[in-house]
Amino acid sequence: MNVSIIGTGYVGLTTGACLAFLGHKVTCIDADERKVKALQAGKIPFYEPHLPELVAGARHNLSFTIEYAEAIPQSQVIFIAVGTPPGANGAPDLKYLEAAARGIGENLAGDFVVVVNKSTVPIGSGNWVESIVRDAYEKRTNQKAKGMFAVASNPEFLREGSAIFDSLYPDRVVVGSDNQRTAEVLYSLYRPLLEQTFNPPSYLPRPDRMGAVPLISADLASAELIKYAANAFLALKISYINEIGQLAEKVGADITQVAKGIGLDARIGTRFLQAGIGWGGSCFGKDTAALVATASEYGLDAQIVKAARDMNRRQRERVVEKLLDELKILKGRTIGLLGLAFKPDTDDLREAPALDVARKLIERGARVKAHDPVAMSRFLQEYPDLDVTLCATAEEALQDCDAAVLVTEWQQYRELDWESIKSSMRGHVLLDGRNLLDRARLSKAGFRYLSLAG
Ligand code: UDX
Repeated sequence: MNVSIIGTGYVGLTTGACLAFLGHKVTCIDADERKVKALQAGKIPFYEPHLPELVAGARHNLSFTIEYAEAIPQSQVIFIAVGTPPGANGAPDLKYLEAAARGIGENLAGDFVVVVNKSTVPIGSGNWVESIVRDAYEKRTNQKAKGMFAVASNPEFLREGSAIFDSLYPDRVVVGSDNQRTAEVLYSLYRPLLEQTFNPPSYLPRPDRMGAVPLISADLASAELIKYAANAFLALKISYINEIGQLAEKVGADITQVAKGIGLDARIGTRFLQAGIGWGGSCFGKDTAALVATASEYGLDAQIVKAARDMNRRQRERVVEKLLDELKILKGRTIGLLGLAFKPDTDDLREAPALDVARKLIERGARVKAHDPVAMSRFLQEYPDLDVTLCATAEEALQDCDAAVLVTEWQQYRELDWESIKSSMRGHVLLDGRNLLDRARLSKAGFRYLSLAG
């Protein structure tokens, strides 16, 4: 099938590369000319494991342009995967979505086209996008757009850092539309994925016991709500284990054991029960805020989701409180942060806990040094005013520090020579914000080992 994807961020580029890999002819459109030129030259604008291989391998089915006119007229399916950054009052800013919908309407020509909302959009956006596409088409042609296109919602559930795995081997595919023909077109598009008939790439073999992928075919509003409800549930699972973690600390319990003990109950599940500094990233913060905002538009108070947000904010404050408890005075101290990205295997810094922690420490007069295996150049580009000294190695970041904070659980931090790091530090406080390290080993090395949970 001929497919257009508008937006070449994490979601758009991953979706485009996966569909091209599955055999579709995909054109990715982005308004940023520099980005498009880089992509045409085979350069991927962000760090995502296996994406470069996937793009290179599917190159014959993949092209990039800034011109809607080059792609939209011959497309059977058009994905909108533009950013919906946080706007005022918790509601996302939809200006890129609006521009994409208008661009589609102004260039629509085909027989029957399915316009797919892949971006996370507020509930009801499907209808809104439809009206913008229709108006733009009718204004240009002076003809009715009736029957020419339909809008569907197809939320993505990929995690940064494992985006390709999640896209090729999803737990489910959700398609929302109020039109039977649309559902059929998307079924054909996703068929190799749903039936798992494609040859897996050598670097990402199909997991054992992977069967057919369930397709949830729903109405538009349900598909839109599924996305918010899923992300909010994952976020509150994390906040729940962090709340229990605070109690575990008080009563002397081990939160890792507690999480395992409850997670092995199949009704609960072990995933997303890692206690620590809490969630960051582009989705959980934004989507929980949007869910609260939508609920309030309908006169509802989303108390559980609000509480999950509060707990997440609290965990970041507790990092500074714990350091203050230990060091008494932060002014003039040097604190080393291990990890800047909001999670391992990405260079994404959106809502990263490290940023908040660094700001709070700097406000209190501390000097902050940091290391991250992949996110440092992005940090320099995006946060040039945040006064953090970046260091080429973790060892360098912790040298002469009064305290160390592990913020992102990069596996390589587990394997550091902590004994020699201890002797290079001025102080001996180590706050493990992700419960990643071996408390007994660290204590033996002379650290005062702290965590955010028992
Ligand atoms: C998330 C959803 O998982 C994905 O389905 C959705 O489409 C987009 O949002 P992502 O933000 O890429 O994906 O990362 P995820 O792996 O979900 O982690 C989010 C945050 O939660 C990270 O900061 C991570 O460190 C934190 N986290 C995750 C925990 O603190 N504990 C956990 O047990 C799991």
